[in-house]
Amino acid sequence: HSIDQGSFSWSAPSNIALVKYWGKKDKQIPANPSVSFTLSNCKTITTLAFARKQNNGNFSFDFLFEGKPKEDFKPKIQNFLERVEAYLPFLKNYHFTIETVNTFPHSSGIASSASGMAALAMNFMSLEKVLYPDMTEDYFFSKASFLARLGSGSACRSVKGQVVVWGNQANIKGSTDLYGVAYPYAIHDTFKNFQDTILLVDKGEKQVSSTIGHDLMHEHPFAEKRFAQAHENLDKLIPVFKNGNLEEFIKIVESEALTLHAMMMTSLPYFILMKPNTLQIINAIWKFRNKTKTPVCFTLDAGANVHVLYPNEVKEKVLQFIKTELVGYCQNGQYLCDEIGNGASLG
Ligand code: PMV
Repeated sequence: HSIDQGSFSWSAPSNIALVKYWGKKDKQIPANPSVSFTLSNCKTITTLAFARKQNNGNFSFDFLFEGKPKEDFKPKIQNFLERVEAYLPFLKNYHFTIETVNTFPHSSGIASSASGMAALAMNFMSLEKVLYPDMTEDYFFSKASFLARLGSGSACRSVKGQVVVWGNQANIKGSTDLYGVAYPYAIHDTFKNFQDTILLVDKGEKQVSSTIGHDLMHEHPFAEKRFAQAHENLDKLIPVFKNGNLEEFIKIVESEALTLHAMMMTSLPYFILMKPNTLQIINAIWKFRNKTKTPVCFTLDAGANVHVLYPNEVKEKVLQFIKTELVGYCQNGQYLCDEIGNGASLG
């Protein structure tokens, strides 16, 4: 690559948290550690074209979403560039054309901020590597995650796979508030091809932005207890990742999802982000699990959609259950099949 002009293309997946990040300190530092499964099929593919320009003290970029200019997205990118400039001091020497596409349907209620910010961060690291070719792969990925975090906290968990920890946790070696790290210990085979079927319950705009949601944890009456609980739950997952105890896994994961929503329901102002069909699905999963003893569970993000998590061994059975008993609760019968994945990749 020349340092004057060129282009890169990176794809980065979405991720689904098992222990949730909800609440932050200053500068995108999480109030508690979180852990997620990196996904595989739901991803953003971003191409960054760069051309050297006179540094006139301004950022300069065009933004295209699915082939068309998208003005309402530009402030987000401008904001991101401002946040990362201190760590990428060469940004104002270039004009950028940023083109991005998602593999998941537009306005599906699936946040593209994690995959989008991660894909963009990877591209900026590729440019930094052109300028400083000696950097190690470890530096490249860690810094990409660090930059992604500044765009959207959970994005820092989309750079690597398959299980990623973000936030300092005494019992997890190398964990840090500054970027996501691949879970450093061996994980049980059952998790290596874990499935996530995303049921699209409500595709509308988010009622509360995650920025506002995180902020509401500042005055939250249960905040300190919740942050301590996230540490405890993450510690409880350490033996589970090793021995594949799905009964224990399910308890922790479902409790985390409901606690996330409980925090929103008990903040001021308060929010209910579940929809009636979210609850119908949860109840149906519990009934199915009780009846069939299938190790399947749910988790939720800050919205009404339900992520159905289960090991690959029971895929056929669970998909059959989803098709017969859960699709009716999905908006236009829509759901997406995904599974655990390996993180960002070039091209
Ligand atoms: O990355 P943000 O600031 O959009 O926060 C997302 C937080 C949750 O998705 C609700 C939980 C998580 O850990 O991903």
